[in-house]
Amino acid sequence: MVVKVWCDGCYDMVHFGHANSLRQAKAMGDYLVVGVHTDEEITLHKGPPVFNEQERYRMVRAIKWVDEVVEGAPYVTTLETLEKYDCEFCVHGDDITMTADGTDTYHIVKSANKYKECQRTQGVSTTNLVGRMLMLSKDHLQRGAQEYNVDRRSSSDMSSGACGRSPWTGLSQFLPTTQKILQFSNKDGPKKTDKIVYVAGAFDLFHIGHLDFLEKAKELGTYLIVGLHTDPVVNRVYKECEDSRYKGFNYPIMNIHERTLSVLAYRCVDEVVIGAPYAVSKELMEHFNVSVVCHGQTSVLPDIGGEDPYSEPKRQGKYQTVDSGNDLTTEKLVERILTRRLDYEERNRKKEEKEMAAYAAFMKQKDAEVQPN
Ligand code: CTP
Ligand code: C5P
Repeated sequence: MVVKVWCDGCYDMVHFGHANSLRQAKAMGDYLVVGVHTDEEITLHKGPPVFNEQERYRMVRAIKWVDEVVEGAPYVTTLETLEKYDCEFCVHGDDITMTADGTDTYHIVKSANKYKECQRTQGVSTTNLVGRMLMLSKDHLQRGAQEYNVDRRSSSDMSSGACGRSPWTGLSQFLPTTQKILQFSNKDGPKKTDKIVYVAGAFDLFHIGHLDFLEKAKELGTYLIVGLHTDPVVNRVYKECEDSRYKGFNYPIMNIHERTLSVLAYRCVDEVVIGAPYAVSKELMEHFNVSVVCHGQTSVLPDIGGEDPYSEPKRQGKYQTVDSGNDLTTEKLVERILTRRLDYEERNRKKEEKEMAAYAAFMKQKDAEVQPN
């Protein structure tokens, strides 16, 4: 018998935390159905989403563990929904999700014993990413190994819920491990017959423009390798790009470990080079047996010495420009958020308040259970 599993959520600014929950959910059965809420429902219960529903449906559909997407899934999960899609149970992360009036959105499936929990990925959430942009914070960038051990929940720069003070979100910084990379990676390397396509970039705050680009690039071959530039390289690109509106901004918003998982979560990606050189060299092309190198229609900043980073693939006649048909960029995405700063600050504040109140009630109930009188 095929065990169908149900997950639902907003999946706004789809990040590797979402992908990790879908990975775990898929492992609990054979077929994964994901319900994604409409913009209207999210605005009502939580505040305005960053990505619209069409964008969110498409992003979730492209995640490698997802078999089916249900568009416009209701905010509160009902038994009728599970039955309609033939799902045995619902899976959600070990945090709490509430409606506008503070009701647990999973109360029905919980009481019917049709609810299972997966482990929430600490240190990343839509709220946290929006917070990073609003605060122009650089806490997410790796500045020294010891900083990973600091629990920033007590630090003074955590206004607006930017770093997730909520008791359910726990650590405010993602702790990357080799195990996690392994879980996200494809088991098989390229076959001898594969035609290898290589692309490189920042892929910061992985968005639908990136997805459109990668899917088009993949069509040029059969095995797609994505080279991710290191955080200092990405920072230089943003600072020095002629058309950059955010010179000096603390890009990348997501560090190299986070960007690695973000890219690996998508079905069209076969392999990632973690910290790829800025220029695509002859050695790199030989090493990976690359047949095609491509870049989208966004501008290309020259290497430090002024050379074109794609001069070698161009010389070999292996370079191609890809039209993603999408003009969204990481900068435009940040701009979307900065222009609606107040809405998002309010959304983050409300979410945190609701979670703190629910947590206080939960602790009170726990105390009463321990000391009955
Ligand atoms: N999730 C997770 N780890 C995260 C973030 C989300 O496992 N770091 C899971 C949630 O527990 C849920 C699913 O992803 O099962 C969809 O979450 P969603 O409804 O989109 O909410 P959040 O990402 O938690 O959004 P926000 O930060 O706005 O609360
Ligand atoms: O800007 P970044 O380095 O993240 O871009 C990675 C790749 O994705 C680049 O080749 C870029 O041109 C491409 N891209 C695209 N369409 C978009 C956004 C990015 O083709 N809307």
